Amino acid sequence: MSRVELKDIVKSFDGNPVIPCLNLDIESGKLTVLLGPSGCGKSTLLRLIAGLEYPDEGKIILDGEDITTLESRRRNIAMVFQNYALYPHLTVRENLAFPLQVAKADKLRIDREVVATAELLGLSSMLDRYPKTLSGGERQRTAVGRAIIRDPRLFLLDEPLSNLDFQLRNQMRGEIKSLQRRLGKTMIYVTHDQTEAMTMADTLVVLEKGKIMQQGTPDEVYHRPANVFTARFIGSPPINILRGSVRGGELHLDSVSSPICHVTMPDGEYLIGIRPDDLIASSDGAAVSMTIERVEFHGATTYLYGRLGEQEVVARGDKIVGQAHSGLNDATVAISISKEALHFFDSQTHQRCT
Ligand SMILES: Nc1ncnc2c1ncn2[C@@H]1O[C@H](COP(=O)(O)OP(=O)(O)OP(=O)(O)O)[C@@H](O)[C@H]1O
Ligand SMILES: [Mg+2]
Repeated sequence: MSRVELKDIVKSFDGNPVIPCLNLDIESGKLTVLLGPSGCGKSTLLRLIAGLEYPDEGKIILDGEDITTLESRRRNIAMVFQNYALYPHLTVRENLAFPLQVAKADKLRIDREVVATAELLGLSSMLDRYPKTLSGGERQRTAVGRAIIRDPRLFLLDEPLSNLDFQLRNQMRGEIKSLQRRLGKTMIYVTHDQTEAMTMADTLVVLEKGKIMQQGTPDEVYHRPANVFTARFIGSPPINILRGSVRGGELHLDSVSSPICHVTMPDGEYLIGIRPDDLIASSDGAAVSMTIERVEFHGATTYLYGRLGEQEVVARGDKIVGQAHSGLNDATVAISISKEALHFFDSQTHQRCT
């Protein structure tokens, strides 16, 4: 078990502050996902923990031990990268054995560990093959095997699945998650893919420009986004963020003439977040109407793209849309909004209000 604490971490490259000042506790034995857009500093954070970079300021604590300036090879931390970097001239067996040979383990132990790791990852039948003869998923499993074989204190994975096709990604993320559970090791997993993050994480850390925007379980982050950035980053199709105001206990959306519903928020201007799944087109004569510009069929669900007043929105349309969804373009439909599903954000700071 390994707990990681990042304390007041500052990191710049060429005078560019990539991480302005970051504090983060990574829980022992759990899978923590760092999620954020390209360039927000995810890989930099992993590289700092791995000892491939050093912070300008701050401390990195691993199980109570200050490892800030400890050399990478003394940290016993395993890192798996996007382009799995197997040795092409070595077989799967030799690739797996490599870290133990470097650590000067004896041959019997190496053989035993290679067999056990291959078993764990479903590689037993391909131990004598070379990387170029393996599929992407098999290569990635070999890379993971090479990382876990020396029993590291901590796993760091940096977008390990982004070279794989959609189906294989789905399968591998399940495999990595159950491997982490079985081994009970602390794992920090970096991705910019929100689906991967939501489905894998015990704890989700949303980053933007080297700052933590929110930290919580996927459920918390989805249902109670702390700010507009997090709300928009998680959920597909993305949440609707609408300009509106509360006057005398009634919610008004800009450019929509009738009030939406009664709310208990103080009077003022807000940004209102409503997930497409909570904005439902119905035929029961609800107060607000939406003009449809485009219909998107997703199988079990259908989304309607259009406008409430002048504001662009996406709503859930499967209640009213049958087979002939293409006929709905330019139609107007009634929309029902459930009060419980509204997220209020301060119109200036973009922070959650309740
Ligand atoms: N060695 C370096 N020298 C100069 N700038 C760097 C260096 N490493 C990273 N950066 C910059 O720091 C910022 C953060 O980079 P980082 O690789 O951590 O982003 P990321 O969140 O992993 O992005 P991605 O999702 O694209 O991998 C980027 O603007 C990048 O250009
Ligand atoms: Mg990166």
